[in-house]
Amino acid sequence: MRGVIKNGRVLKGAPVPSASTSVSAVAVHTTSASSSLLDENTLSPAGVPTQTARKTAAPGAVHTTTRKSSFQGGNVPSWADSREPTSTLGIPSRTTFNSWKPPTSLGGLWEMLNLEGAGGLSAMPQRAAQTAYTAARMAFFFAQSALISRSLGVEMSALPNGGPMPPDVSKEAADKMVQDSLGGIVELTKMDIENVRRGIYRAPYDMDPRHRQWSPAFWADQHERLLRDRREGKEIRLKKDTRVRSASEADGYPAYYLQHFHWQPGGWLSDESAQIYEHSTESLFFGAQDMMQRQALVPLHYFMRGRDPARTSVLDVACGTGRFLTFLKDNYPAVRTYGVDLSPNYLKTAEANMGYFEKFDMKVNGSRIFSRAQFIQANAERLPFEDSSLDVVTCVYLFHELPPNARQAVAQEVSRVLKPGGIFIWADATQDGDRPEIAQAAGIFNRMFHEPYFSSFFRADFKPMFAASGLGHEATILAHLTKVMCFRKGF
Ligand SMILES: C[S@@+](CC[C@H](N)C(=O)[O-])C[C@H]1O[C@@H](n2cnc3c(N)ncnc32)[C@H](O)[C@@H]1O
Repeated sequence: MRGVIKNGRVLKGAPVPSASTSVSAVAVHTTSASSSLLDENTLSPAGVPTQTARKTAAPGAVHTTTRKSSFQGGNVPSWADSREPTSTLGIPSRTTFNSWKPPTSLGGLWEMLNLEGAGGLSAMPQRAAQTAYTAARMAFFFAQSALISRSLGVEMSALPNGGPMPPDVSKEAADKMVQDSLGGIVELTKMDIENVRRGIYRAPYDMDPRHRQWSPAFWADQHERLLRDRREGKEIRLKKDTRVRSASEADGYPAYYLQHFHWQPGGWLSDESAQIYEHSTESLFFGAQDMMQRQALVPLHYFMRGRDPARTSVLDVACGTGRFLTFLKDNYPAVRTYGVDLSPNYLKTAEANMGYFEKFDMKVNGSRIFSRAQFIQANAERLPFEDSSLDVVTCVYLFHELPPNARQAVAQEVSRVLKPGGIFIWADATQDGDRPEIAQAAGIFNRMFHEPYFSSFFRADFKPMFAASGLGHEATILAHLTKVMCFRKGF
């Protein structure tokens, strides 16, 4: 069965809009995992499906940094590598990231307290509020992970995040990974706070105490769900049951997709897994997941300078439960926004999450001009958009879930749908050589959680692959366990 979501309500059985149907303010996705996928129609950014022949972007249309820079100077954060960014859009890069370590000397202490570097006294209230918020989340998710690990049995893990630690990793090595991870979160928090202070993006909207995350009933429900998810996940892991059987290739899903990624019960094709996904990843990363995702907003900030948001279109490929899109909408409510994912279950949750965010935003900020996000079920290897139709494409944590040939297909599709001069913001796990101090942790990640394509992802060199699809590298930002890269389609 197909369904159309309109004004937050699922109209079951409603037809998928045809070429003659106006579907502005409509999100389209199927409501059953067994339905076939939307791969015949393509949508223009106005939301009108059209039948268009697909073209691959001409190779060679690669932007190079020798082209005249459009960078006008301006706001470069202190975490950036250099005061002379080479990006044509002025996007700063950060290509080294070391975990924060407590100061051991007075000089180090002074550097830490250097108020001028952190915005001076006037920035103090915001900094204090954001620090307290981050610390509270970190403590909560750390404690919850430890509690769940314990209740699932000690053989589950030496790490508090519930991961089955491989037997060849010593207790000392595991402890060091946790320390590095916590130090990385502190460093990331500094970056996040500075980005907010400099107006690169807004403070997290869920700092407001009216947000549901501060309600004990909400987190009690999430805790219960997470415990169930981890318990069932442990059974699947012990049985080494990697295949999802609730759907099949006959339903239009690629074989690589039908797996229990992260030992999630139901894989990507379960409502339960979608409803616990955000809480689950936050507990895996001790509360750092949102901060890492927000770094993908940095290149967007530089791209958006001087642009009219209402005339800018953004597609988030593999949007999952839509968390990143809520951050994006909080910063650019009028931007025309699309989320594509293969999972009807995740799309349904994304629609609900966006609905909650919009209502919450109305309560907190009054009426802002929102362009309603549209959610569409489709394979990222065949995006239902016309050639050269979008200004920005984002893609957060998809590539490590894909086999190499699918990554290449997605790169070509992203380039095809981008307008010349448009940007692609790629965010995913750090790779080999990015963070030598955590190489061991990264190397065992795929053994702890079912991540069948992580090894090849870890060693892949994406810059030449994107260049061959017509996407030139603009900037790289390392942010704890995440790397953000920005590419631009040649004119
Ligand atoms: C790790 S999650 C990331 C979700 C989201 N971007 C985030 O950061 O929270 C990966 C997502 O990719 C989606 N996905 C995997 N393969 C896909 C494909 N070929 N086409 C579209 N979506 C895909 C999954 O359904 C899942 O929602």
